[in-house]
Amino acid sequence: MLRDVLVNEIGLHRQSHARALELQGYDAVALSGGGRSVVGLDVCDAVIQRARQRSSASDVAFVSADFFTWAAPEPFHLILDYTFFCALDPSVRPAWAARMEELLRPDGELITLMYLPQDQDSGPPYNTTVLDYEEVLNPLGFVIESIEDNDVAVEPRKGLEKIARWKKTAAGAETSTTDKPSDNL
Ligand SMILES: C[S@@+](CC[C@H](N)C(=O)[O-])C[C@H]1O[C@@H](n2cnc3c(N)ncnc32)[C@H](O)[C@@H]1O
Repeated sequence: MLRDVLVNEIGLHRQSHARALELQGYDAVALSGGGRSVVGLDVCDAVIQRARQRSSASDVAFVSADFFTWAAPEPFHLILDYTFFCALDPSVRPAWAARMEELLRPDGELITLMYLPQDQDSGPPYNTTVLDYEEVLNPLGFVIESIEDNDVAVEPRKGLEKIARWKKTAAGAETSTTDKPSDNL
């Protein structure tokens, strides 16, 4: 279960994760509990309505808004991008990274649950690699702290999903993807 992965491997119980944002509605429930205040965001009203109906968690606010223009009340300690990146046209990826930086506290943590399809003629989802994430996040100082296969991926996506934790470091801003390419694809 995604929640178990987040608690056991990501240390979700930590106090430093007091305010969390999840990109794609329902999976916000996986972040709930522990006194955290969680926002589940999706631009699609129907997705948000469904998430509200399925969830009984009182500490999750489901918001229907555009990630790129949403007026967040304050920056987050933790953001979980649940296969959002691969749904975006590749030309938008640098704006995605800039927005992540804006929405996260400077000491915040970004977690990306990455679906990495390679056989798409178009999208969404678009063909995506870990290097695609690094190309837009490394210049902003985000570096991978850990990366694992997502063992709880749904059957058709087994072997095609990874979970990465990103930390913003001053040194990271100087690390180019050419200097330090990911060997995880
Ligand atoms: C690939 S789906 C992710 C669904 C689910 N997490 C999964 O893996 O099956 C992409 C989601 O991104 C949402 N989306 C697309 N553009 C968005 C935007 N600009 N702001 C917020 N949500 C957006 C869509 O409504 C859709 O629910």
